[in-house]
Amino acid sequence: MDDTSDKSSLVGVGRCQIIKFPKISDPRGNLTFVEGLRHVPFEIRRVYYLYDVPGGETRGGHAHKKLQQATIAIAGSFDVVLDDGHSRKTVSLNRSYYGVYIPRMIWRELVNFSSGSVCLVLASEPYEREDYIRDYDDFLRAARGTVL
Ligand code: TYD
Repeated sequence: MDDTSDKSSLVGVGRCQIIKFPKISDPRGNLTFVEGLRHVPFEIRRVYYLYDVPGGETRGGHAHKKLQQATIAIAGSFDVVLDDGHSRKTVSLNRSYYGVYIPRMIWRELVNFSSGSVCLVLASEPYEREDYIRDYDDFLRAARGTVL
């Protein structure tokens, strides 16, 4: 990620940092592991994954009021478009040992899935329908009235 070191990296989409997870290289096959509160800044309370995503499809398209997550391209590649209501940035994930941390109140869209890609999500909360903001205008109103 090409964040600069000024304070803009600490607010808004600047908080969406790339995380490099441990990689145990082995001729028998590589291994990566993730521990909550060590490699991601939250307890992992749920894991889900997206797979068999048809070419050209978009996933996400929402924000969360309190949930934090780390999104990992376990296989293949895709882009994550991140939006804090003021600015946007796009992160390309294409290695099994990189993820992007997405804090609360960030609108995200997952696009450009490669064939056979798998998106693993580590989440700070169980599934709660009420935690979603699915309307972009609602998100903008909430984000612009929120101190991040
Ligand atoms: P959604 O979060 O909208 O998917 P995405 O953001 O990846 O496009 O979820 C799609 C559907 O799956 C929706 O009906 C809610 C359901 N769902 C669960 O029941 N549990 C879960 O943990 C998740 C992530 C989704």
